[in-house]
Amino acid sequence: MILVTGGAGFIGANFVLGWLSSSEAEGVINLDKLTYAGNLANLQSLKVDPRHMLVHGDIGDKGLVSNLLSKYRPRAIVNFAAESHVDRSIHGPAEFIQTNIIGTFNLLECAREYWASLRDSEKEEFRFHHVSTDEVYGSLAPSDPAFKESNPYEPNSPYSASKAASDHLVRAWFHTYGFPVVTTNCSNNYGPYHFPEKLIPLVILNALNGKPLPIYGDGQQIRDWLFVGDHCSAIREVLAKGRLGETYNIGGWNEKANLEVVNAICAILDELKPRADGKSYADQITFVKDRPGHDRRYAIDASKIEEELGWRPAETFDTGIRKTVQWYLDNPDWVQGVVTGSYRDWLEKQYHN
Ligand code: NAD
Ligand code: DAU
Repeated sequence: MILVTGGAGFIGANFVLGWLSSSEAEGVINLDKLTYAGNLANLQSLKVDPRHMLVHGDIGDKGLVSNLLSKYRPRAIVNFAAESHVDRSIHGPAEFIQTNIIGTFNLLECAREYWASLRDSEKEEFRFHHVSTDEVYGSLAPSDPAFKESNPYEPNSPYSASKAASDHLVRAWFHTYGFPVVTTNCSNNYGPYHFPEKLIPLVILNALNGKPLPIYGDGQQIRDWLFVGDHCSAIREVLAKGRLGETYNIGGWNEKANLEVVNAICAILDELKPRADGKSYADQITFVKDRPGHDRRYAIDASKIEEELGWRPAETFDTGIRKTVQWYLDNPDWVQGVVTGSYRDWLEKQYHN
């Protein structure tokens, strides 16, 4: 088995679904706290799949994590669990420190203890894969080269600082204890099951609901967008073939200004689901107050993972964004559950009293 943490969230769920889509795949223990970002509807199609087991719990719970490891003896851990939204980290950083730093620390310690108890051959095979972000490198000027793995860490938000701290812990566990880790730092993902607090799903849903499309500042901030399925395929490659103690940047060579992304979404919606009044969804674009400390530009140099492991993204931005818009149009029940909050009813039912 493998242990996945945060596998009910956006990328974690896409990873678990992708992993189990192969009939030869090992089973998955999915440890998730089911915060507002965890949604069991993402995993609906696995309801009757005996290879998937959801455990509702916290990566910071030592007793629970240690028990899971000794009971199920996974050969790898893939750590997605995190608080992931920059704006929320500005309003309330405490949860970010708790899960992203203390939680990762706890997971590392439990995993190290478990790893020490393994037979030599199992020890050799074991991997701790830490999923991180390009935001740890800070912000680029327009003419700066893209982030390489050797760039210094310069995080600017409570979120990116907490992820940077977790990356440092993971690195130290390798150097100090010889604990077998790999870390990946990925750019902005988009695709199915993306929670609509983030730019792309927010814009799709606001557009369809006739609401303003909020653009922070001048909308010229640049992000490097990668379709979530490509992030997941990169993680599988690194987990299988990545060198221990190494970090790998993952990105789509797809730098786009926010305004360009929003206009692209509006153009696709104009074609697939035209507004009743015949006007463009772009008319709903509204410039709003900027995010404090807003990083101007991220860009990933993905040549290391491409050259060493042969990984390449399958989607371009044009194909990926079209698939994404289509997915939101095709899945009104998922959207409705998220928008009304009814996706959280299961928690109420299950844990009442
Ligand atoms: P998400 O917010 O959609 O999902 C996070 C998941 O972790 C949720 O299911 C949540 O319930 C769970 N979780 C939160 N705290 C937990 C805890 N203490 N114990 C167990 N589970 C907990 O996040 P995402 O966008 O899917 O991101 C997943 C990972 O990838 C994060 O580590 C994030 O930093 C990283 N990342 C995200 C992006 C992106 O564009 N979304 C890009 C690069 C890296
Ligand atoms: O770079 C990787 C990171 O990408 C991940 O580590 C984070 O977990 C993930 O949330 C994402 O962070 P961003 O802050 O880049 O994503 P977000 O979707 O929040 O914002 C994308 C850009 O759009 C950013 O420049 C802010 C802007 N924005 C966002 C929102 C929600 C707007 O202009 N308006 C909005 O309403």
